[in-house]
Amino acid sequence: MIEKVKSESVYSHILKRQLVFKNMLLFLSIFIGFFFFFTACSDNYNASEAKALVEEKCVKCHKLPTPDVRTDEQWDKILARKNDIMAKRNVPTLSRREKRMILRYMKENN
Ligand code: HEC
Repeated sequence: MIEKVKSESVYSHILKRQLVFKNMLLFLSIFIGFFFFFTACSDNYNASEAKALVEEKCVKCHKLPTPDVRTDEQWDKILARKNDIMAKRNVPTLSRREKRMILRYMKENN
């Protein structure tokens, strides 16, 4: 009887340690998740860099599209389709960061 109680308490001690370890892992993964989320979100946006990007990337097939020619919703749609058009015409496509930069520039200046 005494032995049984003893072994149970040893077992629950191990369980407790496992629980602490699991919680630590959980917090660590949440922390890492937030870290990557925020670094991915911060593009170090710079309006003149974005403008230069438009002037470089968006004049290869038609004249320079200025932000004011379309609404926010239209820019979303245009930029969503643009990489496909660029790929078909063998023009280097936009990276995800470039796309976000251009989209933000268009929306802030239209
Ligand atoms: C590979 C060639 C190519 C490049 C590079 C290109 N475009 Fe276009 N663009 C087109 C073609 C083709 C059309 C007409 C067909 C269409 O509307 O999808 C068009 C149409 C447009 C239109 C009018 C379409 C509408 O629905 O209102 C806008 C605005 C535009 N492009 C903006 C841009 C911007 C901004 C960039 C730079 C990120 C860009 N384009 C780069 C080929 C290109």
